Amino acid sequence: MSDAHGDTIDALGHEDRRFPPPADFVAGAAVTDAAMRAEALADSEAFWARQASELLTWQEPWSRVLDWQVPNARWFDGGRLNVAENCLDRHVAAGNGSRVAIHWEGEPGDTRTITYADLLAEVERFSNVLRSLGVAKGDRVNIYLPMIPEAAVAMLSCARIGAVHSVVFGGFSSQSLADRINDAEAKVLITADGGYRRGEVFALKPAADEALATTPSIEHVVVVRRGGNEVTMQPGRDHWYHELMEEASPSCPAEGMDAEDLLFLLYTSGTTGKPKGIMHTTGGYLTHVTYTHRYVFDLRPDDVYWCTADVGWITGHSYIVYGPLANGATQVMYEGVPNHPGNDRFWDIVERYGVTIFYTAPTAIRTFMKWGAEEPAAHDLSSLRLLGTVGEPINPEAWMWYHTHIGQGRCPIVDTWWQTETGGIMISPLPGETTTKPGSATFALPGVSAEVLDDAGQVVTHGGGYLALTEPWPGMLRGIWGDPQRFVDTYWSRFEGRYFAGDGARLDDDGYLWLLGRVDDVMNVSGHRISTTEVESALVSHPAVAEAAVVGATDDTTGQAIVAYVSLRGGADVDVTTLRNHVATEIGAIAKPKAIFFTPDLPKTRSGKIMRRLLRDVAEGRDLGDTTTLADASVVSELQQRAAQAPAED
Ligand code: WT7
Repeated sequence: MSDAHGDTIDALGHEDRRFPPPADFVAGAAVTDAAMRAEALADSEAFWARQASELLTWQEPWSRVLDWQVPNARWFDGGRLNVAENCLDRHVAAGNGSRVAIHWEGEPGDTRTITYADLLAEVERFSNVLRSLGVAKGDRVNIYLPMIPEAAVAMLSCARIGAVHSVVFGGFSSQSLADRINDAEAKVLITADGGYRRGEVFALKPAADEALATTPSIEHVVVVRRGGNEVTMQPGRDHWYHELMEEASPSCPAEGMDAEDLLFLLYTSGTTGKPKGIMHTTGGYLTHVTYTHRYVFDLRPDDVYWCTADVGWITGHSYIVYGPLANGATQVMYEGVPNHPGNDRFWDIVERYGVTIFYTAPTAIRTFMKWGAEEPAAHDLSSLRLLGTVGEPINPEAWMWYHTHIGQGRCPIVDTWWQTETGGIMISPLPGETTTKPGSATFALPGVSAEVLDDAGQVVTHGGGYLALTEPWPGMLRGIWGDPQRFVDTYWSRFEGRYFAGDGARLDDDGYLWLLGRVDDVMNVSGHRISTTEVESALVSHPAVAEAAVVGATDDTTGQAIVAYVSLRGGADVDVTTLRNHVATEIGAIAKPKAIFFTPDLPKTRSGKIMRRLLRDVAEGRDLGDTTTLADASVVSELQQRAAQAPAED
């Protein structure tokens, strides 16, 4: 473990509060004892097979539960199913067509109520639209949309016809969009004119147009009207969603897919500059997300579930679209930010829709803490019965605030650890079974095997080390699009036969797992992974920049903040704002450094490696440890002075 984590380990070690599941919660809960754990432990393949057959509808049964040749897993081989059919048709066929699937609310306050029958009808039509644009099974379709129901419609329509979607978060820049389209060689792009954010329309189509200048694989663009902003439509290539939908035929049978057919690609940051196209397949993924959504959130028929993530991230894929819809849940989907028009927007939504299960990120909770407990106190939150968090470690203070001011002391909290790569939740309490400790994600779920390992790969039974997953699981990534070697190198080379998650973890005296953040060069900013290298390359792509080093520094609200150290080319001049905006253009606003320090030199070892630990220490205002390996020690004292003087940018 790097010494940057020393404080965290100590602080967490002193946590001795315990929260057993409340009796009235247990009374109606699906899992209340260790029987499910025992079953999974006795025979995990049989356990997953039971989940797959109980929770999903298969067109043809599988012939083999698991075929595992490290690192390649095949789950439910020979089985056939369609994801959209599982999320829509079977609920309608069971007589639940009039059940609300999505209570959608736009940021300006406009609303749409979409039943399962409505959603199925929309998806059937749009599936035909995609087919009419030449999309066939296996083709890639890029989706670049705001948080509007059409995002779910587009994803489900791809799934229905066997096309592979690649959703790009609407906050990413045109450059990021172009890179992802080109890597996947997508044929069709689905976007919108714009969406609402903080009371204003943000333009998407113009950003897409910029990307489209360098994406030769795209044949057609479908544009949803949402923002009402002016856009240019290229005849023959660009089409309005509503016009295509009017002409489309209403019925489209679901394609039978092999369990191992590709369902989607989702790009995520790694330790190098190039994002990885994480591959998820059909049967195992859907089993995993449906199972976890059912049991981690203890879903009941009258629940109103709300996950505040964006569909552009894996949380939106697994716990807005696929898990909840496969379970036939009723959910809230919200387009905008939590502070428009006021800081109580979320609590207003909880009250008006009677939300019972609320799933958000620690960074949001810390922001709510700053806004004050009077915001939630002004609303009736008595409908809430379960709270969840995801994206980064939650500090015990934030956990307690969430418990007290949102859960009103009544709601269990599920702190769910997982990754884009794992597809679904891996480590989490089961709310009717597990006694929680503020800040601990507790235990691996039934069916999941996690261990803490030391540098040599030996199992740590007590104390800190690296988190590894030691058995295959159905939702696991099947590879990195176009780069099988990187798949092996990134996840399967650090510890033989085991999946290396890139996170530090600690096991306490009671065997509880405490996640300690990334151990590689990946930052976690507001629950989103951003690689230091990616931001460095964006900075260096500016003509004035000679060299850049980027580190994640602990930040009270966002978990980590991006801090950049930049040295300029001789004679060049550029200001901080220009460079921050340059990064936003290259990657997206989420990757803007919070602070940029100019320095004539970066601290390097004698062999020329940038000493990141030192830069992190400087950024976090810590005393520097051993600097004897530095080539030039004066560089650092100079930097410290600058860091102490320069105010951080907002
Ligand atoms: C990384 C994965 C999974 C959806 C959102 C992020 C961190 C995630 C937790 C948690 C501590 C967490 C890890 C992980 N992380 N959840 N409950 N406690 N850390 O997905 O972008 O793939 O990031 O997020 O560092 O490796 P992602």
